Amino acid sequence: MSSESQSELSIPVPANEEQSAQPNPTPGSFASAREQRRWNNLSEKMSSFHEWFKQEFNTLYELADGSFTTRGLSLVRYLETAKAMNHHLTMHHTIEERYLFPILGKTMPQFAAKDNGAHIASHHGIHEGLDRLGALVKKWTSAPSEYSPDEMRACLDSFRDVLFHHLDEEARYHFLLGCDN
Ligand SMILES: [Fe+2]
Ligand SMILES: [Fe+2]
Repeated sequence: MSSESQSELSIPVPANEEQSAQPNPTPGSFASAREQRRWNNLSEKMSSFHEWFKQEFNTLYELADGSFTTRGLSLVRYLETAKAMNHHLTMHHTIEERYLFPILGKTMPQFAAKDNGAHIASHHGIHEGLDRLGALVKKWTSAPSEYSPDEMRACLDSFRDVLFHHLDEEARYHFLLGCDN
């Protein structure tokens, strides 16, 4: 899967967003079937990214015991896949916080930056884990003999729950927004 860009995640703003003081992206609030279709397309795209992140995470976890070699990967290449996941998640969250959450946060406090809404809080929790992962990747890249499968898995375990819960919850909200009821 290629990296995301803003154009790939063109955000459909409810039609009344620009016309009234009631910018409410809530279920059934889209002024036209076309807007709702655009939202549903975005929702599907987001869900597919989320599934991909889960797959990427699970593969990283599974191969941590050194079985990456059975896939033809050296330790360096394996660590690069960890680095890539970190990069993809960071980019995904940056796009969400910049373009999507400000719209959703107007009516759903879970997405609001103010008071550290639940989804923003989850992003922070995930990135604390990604920071720990980044530090390990850096350490093992310069000292490969110190690589520890247990340490790698413990690090991944430390943010698995917050990551998976967040990915599922966010997809559920996107889906609900696309529903008529
Ligand atoms: Fe997110
Ligand atoms: Fe997301």
